[in-house]
Amino acid sequence: MSTKKRVLTGITSSGKPHIGNILGAVLPAIELSKNADIESLFFISDFHSLTTIKDADNRRDFRNAIAATWLAFGFDYESNLFYRQSKVPQVAELTWYLNCFTPFPMLQYAHAFKSKAENLSDVNAGLFTYPVLMAADILLYDAHVVPVGKDQKQHIEIARDIGRSFNHHYGEVFVIPEASIQENVMMVPGTDGRKMSKSYNNYIDMMAPKKQLKKQIYSIVTDATPLEDPKDPDSCLVYQLYELFADPSDVQGMRESLLKGGYGYGHAKGALLEEILTRFAKERELFHFYMENTDKLEEALSIGEEKASEIANAKLKQVRELLGY
Ligand code: ADP
Ligand code: TRP
Repeated sequence: MSTKKRVLTGITSSGKPHIGNILGAVLPAIELSKNADIESLFFISDFHSLTTIKDADNRRDFRNAIAATWLAFGFDYESNLFYRQSKVPQVAELTWYLNCFTPFPMLQYAHAFKSKAENLSDVNAGLFTYPVLMAADILLYDAHVVPVGKDQKQHIEIARDIGRSFNHHYGEVFVIPEASIQENVMMVPGTDGRKMSKSYNNYIDMMAPKKQLKKQIYSIVTDATPLEDPKDPDSCLVYQLYELFADPSDVQGMRESLLKGGYGYGHAKGALLEEILTRFAKERELFHFYMENTDKLEEALSIGEEKASEIANAKLKQVRELLGY
């Protein structure tokens, strides 16, 4: 077994990645994966996506868009592990075993389920046992550290509890994972000023064709200050987004123009659009290359899937023997 620390995280393919996902999750994870003492396991949790997405074409599209994004931003899939959850279906077998070590009340209070629990007719059993599949994702690969957003913290606690319960019966089988929660993570605002999110439909798709990107950027909410009047940059959403990736001197330039007056929100939106198009030109091109050449995505993912399968098979062999199968 590798002596490197295993850092594992999954992204559910329930939509296309937006600027918030990219700046808040993808880029920091890729940075972390460059550390030579770390082996990164990044996967697309496409089994989890079935709790909400039923359409096969959507599932494939979202999955490809997520994979293409990681590759476009330079994730080194050869030195790390990059895979689709569904291509290592051993995880489903482990989920069954772990289900039988999971107390019912623990799931009843889990976030994924509880947030929908007021309307139980909308809840499928997959959503209810979602955290057990997530525990299997982690325990199957002996992950040490699991970086996640705050909303997933409780799911990692559940994975730890299930792992401990299993170890209590059968010895030190599973590594008990630590969650890594970045407390003051960057919060990218959406076009309406709330947190950018797929669920609020206020996101900017950085990879969208220029026309669509322009439409999204021009839909950013601004106040009614007339063009010639001075404007407050700190309460301007366009400025806040621009600040996230433009050069400091350009940011300062936009700041001064807004404060001075005679510079409209339309000008600022135009600058933001140009900034995204030029700064991410290479990534946008690569993204589209992968989306049009899905065989290349397939090729990259299958390398990780083979390695992931080996780890999964070894762990399952041990588990089956312990359980008498
Ligand atoms: P969404 O809210 O669009 O459904 P997810 O919950 O799937 O996004 O989040 C995937 C990852 O992207 C998480 O690690 C989350 O912390 C990060 N993320 C999502 N939205 C933002 C945002 N607006 N700013 C920063 N990071 C974000
Ligand atoms: N549930 C996580 C999310 O929606 C995604 C996920 C699935 C995951 N399995 C995981 C994250 C295992 C970390 C580890 O964000």
